[in-house]
Amino acid sequence: MNYQQAMPGINLEPFFEQTKGLELGQYHNFLRQALASRIGSRPHGRDQEWYQLLNTLPQLSRVDANFKVDQVSLSTAAGIDQAALRKTLMGLHPWRKGPFNILGVEVHAEWRSDRKWQRIRPHLSTLKGRRVLDVGTGNGYFLYRMLGEQVDLALGIDPTRLFLYQFQALQNLQAENNAFLLPLTDEDLPPCQFFDTVFSLGVLYHRRQPVQHLQRLISALRPGGELVLETLIINEASKSLKPTGRYAQMRNVWLIPTLKYIKELLQQCACEDIKVVDVNVTSTQEQRSTEWMRFQSLADFLDPEDSSKTIEGYPAPVRAVIIATKPD
Ligand SMILES: C[S@@+](CC[C@H](N)C(=O)[O-])C[C@H]1O[C@@H](n2cnc3c(N)ncnc32)[C@H](O)[C@@H]1O
Repeated sequence: MNYQQAMPGINLEPFFEQTKGLELGQYHNFLRQALASRIGSRPHGRDQEWYQLLNTLPQLSRVDANFKVDQVSLSTAAGIDQAALRKTLMGLHPWRKGPFNILGVEVHAEWRSDRKWQRIRPHLSTLKGRRVLDVGTGNGYFLYRMLGEQVDLALGIDPTRLFLYQFQALQNLQAENNAFLLPLTDEDLPPCQFFDTVFSLGVLYHRRQPVQHLQRLISALRPGGELVLETLIINEASKSLKPTGRYAQMRNVWLIPTLKYIKELLQQCACEDIKVVDVNVTSTQEQRSTEWMRFQSLADFLDPEDSSKTIEGYPAPVRAVIIATKPD
């Protein structure tokens, strides 16, 4: 079974078309095999439902995209049935990353991802003309913000099928651009040494083996390229926190490092010029339930009597942004 059969409505060919003349073209077979083994034999239970939703999106000849603003926006002069569009987009619930204004429908996602972007962007080497990879990108919100910085190519990978359908919905509404999302994990990355900047935002603590995660990111980076890591951290003397059971109700948090430990890991991976550029306590304004994400969110995961702790008694979420360079 090929990916089109396993994921109706998903079109990954523009990525292969766009990159075939580049050095990344050498890894197309590698990537196609990774796609086949990750998704080919495992259709998702809701693919058909999401495919039907994609088919109800309006087909428009002219849509303007604005990726430079916090609320990524698509707009058109054509008349839009807003109620119908809203219903379609709601069918792709839950929206974790945003905000978006999609042809007049405001999608207030669980996360104000614009705030994370504001903490990261000022510290990056200019993104203009760069080829960037975002590992664990979610639904593409950050890929659009990277396009807003005039990158040449913004490739995201993320295994969560719903996010791929959200991204495809956004892509189907607008003219072709240079953002692409492949339903892959860090384990599927080729050692291509191709990207100028590699992002891993909010993924490290979901990986059981953080060093391998970092090594995979670095092997996708060209010599002299920039690694941008955003992760939960722990402000304690120990090396890291390994939650027993859940952390802030998340089942898949394996290890939360201290900043010192992250620096050690990056040094082990031969990174240079390692800088901590931001440390931030996650607020309930940045991560919250909305009508577009109707499940519980951060406020429900903190101790009601002491918001400096999670309901499991661990320190509440604090996140850091670390930037490092791969030696030339
Ligand atoms: C906490 S979210 C972070 C999303 C986004 N990068 C952000 O910072 O808001 C973690 C994301 O990583 C994805 N993910 C989980 N395991 C992954 C892996 N091994 N490789 C790549 N992405 C992964 C999940 O599907 C999810 O979208």
